[in-house]
Amino acid sequence: MRRPFVAGNWKLNLDLSAGRALVAGVAEKLPASLPIDVAVCPTSIYLFPMAKAISGTPIKLGGQNCWHESKGAFTGEVSAAMVKEAGCTYVILGHSERRHTIGPKDADGRIHAETDEMIAAKVRAAMSACLVPIVCIGETLEERDAGHTNEVLRRQINGSLAGVEAASGDSLVIAYEPVWAIGTGRTATPEQAQDAHQYIAALLMERFGSDVAGDIRIQYGGSVKPSNVVELMKCPDVDGALVGGASLKVDDFVGIIEGTIRAKGLD
Ligand code: PGA
Repeated sequence: MRRPFVAGNWKLNLDLSAGRALVAGVAEKLPASLPIDVAVCPTSIYLFPMAKAISGTPIKLGGQNCWHESKGAFTGEVSAAMVKEAGCTYVILGHSERRHTIGPKDADGRIHAETDEMIAAKVRAAMSACLVPIVCIGETLEERDAGHTNEVLRRQINGSLAGVEAASGDSLVIAYEPVWAIGTGRTATPEQAQDAHQYIAALLMERFGSDVAGDIRIQYGGSVKPSNVVELMKCPDVDGALVGGASLKVDDFVGIIEGTIRAKGLD
């Protein structure tokens, strides 16, 4: 079985003292060694101090983004090597907020901030810096309602992983995050999640072959909370969760970690 992986995406939340308090509170409630991987992903300016805060705990660190070039005239950007040097194991790439929400609007009010092509370049840069990218994909509500979910997932997997070579499955994580479920309180049903994950697993088989693809973890993301985590994690192709809002509270995040361990029969 793939080792389940729960990551908290803090987005633009928690100042340094709140981040430290959260990690200390979570670590206090967890055993020193865990049967799953757990990570927190703070905003990049706090990565160095948070690396110190997690030291001695089973919690690992992830960035929320990185730039695809290693250096140069890119004001305000952070390279993959810098994220790695700050103490990160992971980096979230291609989050729907970066694909759809953060960026200038075109004349029709659409935002196309990060394209699959840009995300693929970032994934390649992250892997060269020995970071494990958590590559986010997922359809919008309009795309789901129009019956285009699989087509969107195929386009995003192929596009966001263009030119990516994975020597082993543990060098890459995919997060399936239906855009309509992020921060909305609306979660995919276990059937919807399992269907999408099974399809993504098949795409990864096509892309990387069964030896590598069989080890790539696919997280579910979108309004995961302690009350729905067990049913989602019972799905055979759901290997963990990428958690936004519920990762900001000690009891909720611990509840999600414990629920994942229970659902996967690792307790
Ligand atoms: P949410 O966010 O858990 O608040 O829905 C998930 C995410 O954006 O990764």
